[in-house]
Amino acid sequence: MLPKGGLKHATEGISYLFAQGRGKAASSVLRYYGFFHELFDTLSERSGIFSIGYSADPSRADITEAQAELPRQTAKGLPRPGKWLDVGCGMGGPACLLASENPDVEITGINITPHHVEEANRRAKEQGLADRVSFRLGDALAMPLPDSSLDGLYAIETAFHYNGKARFIQEAMRILKPGGAFAVADIAWGGSGEGLTERIRMAPIRWTMASPELFTENQWCENLAAAGFTQIACEDISRETFGLLGRWKERAVAHLPELRQKYPEALLRMMIAGFEYYAGRPEKIPVRYILVRARKDPGAARRLPGALSIDTRAAPDIHKKTVLANTNIRRPLYGIFNRRHNP
Ligand SMILES: C[S@@+](CC[C@H](N)C(=O)[O-])C[C@H]1O[C@@H](n2cnc3c(N)ncnc32)[C@H](O)[C@@H]1O
Repeated sequence: MLPKGGLKHATEGISYLFAQGRGKAASSVLRYYGFFHELFDTLSERSGIFSIGYSADPSRADITEAQAELPRQTAKGLPRPGKWLDVGCGMGGPACLLASENPDVEITGINITPHHVEEANRRAKEQGLADRVSFRLGDALAMPLPDSSLDGLYAIETAFHYNGKARFIQEAMRILKPGGAFAVADIAWGGSGEGLTERIRMAPIRWTMASPELFTENQWCENLAAAGFTQIACEDISRETFGLLGRWKERAVAHLPELRQKYPEALLRMMIAGFEYYAGRPEKIPVRYILVRARKDPGAARRLPGALSIDTRAAPDIHKKTVLANTNIRRPLYGIFNRRHNP
């Protein structure tokens, strides 16, 4: 005997999975947030932050605090005072948090999901921030903003949805002022990303997470360098982010009664089992979580895209790992630079 509403939930779940195999990237993102909105909103306890979180001590972290910490870590190097752009701003939680903690910044958020934009504007108004924080519809691949108009740009756990990250990076280069800062916190593919076996391994993530294109760390660095960015630094923060999966499992279990009203039991069980499995075996997680930072050279207009850029002073807070990026650096060399280093 199925639980009450079980057949309806199961049918919705199955039709979601079938639909995700078709159509354009943007429509699969809309379907993804249409289907999972309540799940994410419930699990994040309506904080308006839809990302995994960050903690130096993830096994003991409080999820709400960790979710607030990821935007702080991401925006650490952005110029203050300044005008910032939050790309894929979600429900506005990160921008409102950062604006309330940094009274000298103005933040514009863009997003392709209309109800996220509405909810984000409602949040900014409710928190008395609407004079410095606003949100509008806009695609990361064609940003509705003038050239050289922003001091900083950040994108938290959204770029894994973009089908054309090279285009996103070029857009970032266009809208940043010379000297402007770029920061992305995102899921990156952990393997080489090349060949049939890799594609097969990637397929479940690409299909279920509306993630048509997953970059490796190297691809982030190469594309930033090719677009003309300098001071490129990439930090692997998988421990501080995926290390929270055990805490997410506890939170999901605590919210099971509400979630059962809206989602198929099998999906909830699978999610909890997944949190538990990967919390105990982080080495099996096929993706990495990375924080990528770069600068638009103050003399950007005069630089040739892809020119050599090596500067270890780029991001002083990134002490764990610094990637020196140049389009000509070959992969084995990257391997040496990319090795995680704990001082
Ligand atoms: C996991 S949520 C993260 C939201 C927010 N950055 C946060 O940390 O709470 C990803 C967001 O990216 C948005 N998104 C996906 N593709 C996008 C695109 N091409 N342009 C702008 N926003 C996009 C989605 O609508 C969603 O709101």
